[in-house]
Amino acid sequence: MPATRSVPEPSPTGRVGYDGGVAIVTVNVLGSPYDVHVEPGILASAGAILLAGSSSTRVAVLTDQIVGPLHGPALAASLRAAGFEPILATLPPGEANKSLTALLPVYDAFLSAKIERSTPVLALGGGIVCDMAGFVAATLLRGVPFIPIPTTLLAMVDASVGGKTGVNHGVGKNLIGAFHQPTAVLADPAVLRTLPPAELSGGLAECIKHDLIRDADGFANLERTLPEILAGDVGALAELVAHNVRIKAAVVAADPFEHGERAHLNFGHTFGHAVERVSDYAVGHGPAVAVGMVAAAALAVDLGMLDGGSRDRLVTLIGRAGLPTGGLSLDADAVVRAMGYDKKVSDGRLRLVLPDRIGHVVVRDDVPAARVAAAVRRITA
Ligand code: GLY
Repeated sequence: MPATRSVPEPSPTGRVGYDGGVAIVTVNVLGSPYDVHVEPGILASAGAILLAGSSSTRVAVLTDQIVGPLHGPALAASLRAAGFEPILATLPPGEANKSLTALLPVYDAFLSAKIERSTPVLALGGGIVCDMAGFVAATLLRGVPFIPIPTTLLAMVDASVGGKTGVNHGVGKNLIGAFHQPTAVLADPAVLRTLPPAELSGGLAECIKHDLIRDADGFANLERTLPEILAGDVGALAELVAHNVRIKAAVVAADPFEHGERAHLNFGHTFGHAVERVSDYAVGHGPAVAVGMVAAAALAVDLGMLDGGSRDRLVTLIGRAGLPTGGLSLDADAVVRAMGYDKKVSDGRLRLVLPDRIGHVVVRDDVPAARVAAAVRRITA
């Protein structure tokens, strides 16, 4: 999809320049770049923007029962005004429904409407909807265009960018999926003002992760700007989204299939996915990543890689963002066992992403199991 506005130049600190809260970040991936449009109010002009890049008069829209009633009418009106005919499918919400079974009626709806290879699948929702819609787009007719319209902070800064799509299996999270890059992403930071505080905090876990792994200046900036973000200041939210999309875009462009540095984005996730699974998804993704980052930082200090002051800054920021830093009522041994089922296991060895300073991480596959277990005990009650 062609860019309709100029692309702001990143500053040396890795932040994106701003023009009235509007930014376009280009993800230069696999020879077919796509734009992430970050713009307050963009939801209402989605139809006009899509018109510039679509050869189809129809669009398939996947949403869920919570987001659909909130934002579906505005999106549908915008699509119709631009001459599109939307075909809507609605998922039951929640991680427990992130399954192949839940997708069967979606395939039925889109196939019986006779969608074609040129018909884009739009995702309207949070991370779960984006992951599932992306998987539908990857597999329907062996692949149709995919355009996420993320409505949560987590989905804007993570799930909608980079082409990881999929569903859960009883054995673990996101174990069935495909890489399928979007053709464009439309992120409207204004919708974040109505997000429940816990959802905003969940997305902040991924933002803290991005700065911790890649950008010490960004980390310090987040420490300063967190009050405005938590207060729902749209300018601060727009800047936060664009900054984080830029980090994600750079990592994904360098390593689209996670053969190397993309694994850094898994900081906190190997512990976190195990926490999600052992809690039967009662602990959501953001809080699980938060405690996962606390465990990983504790382990890094234990291994002599990270200084205690940096760990304390991380733990403090996580807490200020409204996220948990420990005290989980979960069986620590079960969490350690669940870590063995993560996708990050290679040749039977657990690959852990651990920080050695704020803004930098390394991958370790040589950490003794007893040390991993001790780190898990730091976050369980
Ligand atoms: N969410 C991690 C990744 O996209 O690689």
